[in-house]
Amino acid sequence: MKILVTGGTGYIGSHTVVELQQSGYEVIIIDNLSNSYESVVDNIEKITGTKPGFEKIDLTDAGKTIDFFKRHSDISGVIHFAALKAVGESVEKPLLYYRNNLNSLINVLEGMALSGVENIVFSSSCTVYGQPDVLPVTEKAPIKKAWSPYANTKQIAEEIIEFTTNVKNIKGILLRYFNPIGAHESALIGELPIGIPNNLVPFITQTAIGKRELLRVFGDDYDTPDGTAIRDYIHVVDLAKAHVIAIDRMLGGKSKDKVEMFNLGTGNGFSVLEVIKSFEKVSGEKLNYKIVDRRPGDIEKVWADTTFANEELGWKAEKGIDEMMLSAWNWEKALQEIG
Ligand code: NAD
Ligand code: UFG
Repeated sequence: MKILVTGGTGYIGSHTVVELQQSGYEVIIIDNLSNSYESVVDNIEKITGTKPGFEKIDLTDAGKTIDFFKRHSDISGVIHFAALKAVGESVEKPLLYYRNNLNSLINVLEGMALSGVENIVFSSSCTVYGQPDVLPVTEKAPIKKAWSPYANTKQIAEEIIEFTTNVKNIKGILLRYFNPIGAHESALIGELPIGIPNNLVPFITQTAIGKRELLRVFGDDYDTPDGTAIRDYIHVVDLAKAHVIAIDRMLGGKSKDKVEMFNLGTGNGFSVLEVIKSFEKVSGEKLNYKIVDRRPGDIEKVWADTTFANEELGWKAEKGIDEMMLSAWNWEKALQEIG
């Protein structure tokens, strides 16, 4: 069966394409390459032995998106990763985020409805919970006022999908990721942001390898044991595997609702300083960092209650923080060798 993976040359998308192909799915990717490279398609082929289809399309272009669906009437499901994702940048450029993330989703849903594609897995985020009152956070936690335009695009996108499935023959699974990090064990794919990374882990590895001078730790005055913010970091391959399970579930007719939502995390929170410590331990490198002010839009702490995903999907994250950091470091070193 053929799956459309939007944003498939991106970080989580590329790992998911590998898992889909290794589970027997045919994959076609759409990406506008605004935050990824087409060469990722070749690296996926090196891992799986099969080259996924690829079309460079900007999904905010309604005409081109609809045309794509008309040309590919044999698609069984869509995994929609394509979006801009930097929390801090979204505070600076809200309209860019609303336009890109919401118009692209609307166009994909319209294309699906027109061509009879019934299943969508959507990349949501734990940012929909804002700063939760109760930790670990369950899927039943209230959706609170967003702390950033990025988070707001995820909240609105979830609602767009819910209202659309009420009137169209479409089912959805919303996957609320916590913080994906690490890279494929082959070190052929990983996180490869264009320009200066916004996320913590690529910034750590780029600093350690000498591409960046120092890591700024955003805030040490949070109400946490060491004062730095806490997140639930999850290995990207564990995360990718959950997408295959979600697609299997929908195509196998096992969904229990028109729209289902699942937290994808490990259930464990780590502070920024703990992540740095893990990195220093597995890499043997000393990291140059300094504490600076908090970053606008950041919440203090969040980690997942994964009971529902564990029980209902039969999925559990397996890899620990050290393994995540080691794979991220191996990927950074592999990138240096390529040059
Ligand atoms: P990424 O930037 O590596 O991948 C996103 C891909 O989408 C990129 O290749 C980019 O070029 C493409 N894209 C963006 N806008 C597009 C458009 N208009 N048309 C076509 N392609 C477009 O990001 P990622 O980390 O792989 O994130 C994938 C998804 O998961 C995003 O929706 C993101 O919001 C969500 N998410 C990511 C994280 C995280 O920490 N990485 C956490 C929660 C949710
Ligand atoms: N951080 C630093 N220095 C940096 C970068 C990050 O101290 O240079 C800190 C942040 O302040 C935060 C933590 O590291 O406390 C994690 O920051 P990231 O930017 O890696 O991740 P976020 O939690 O801000 O956001 C990420 C993704 C979003 C996603 C969210 C929740 O970028 O797309 O996780 O899943 F929605």
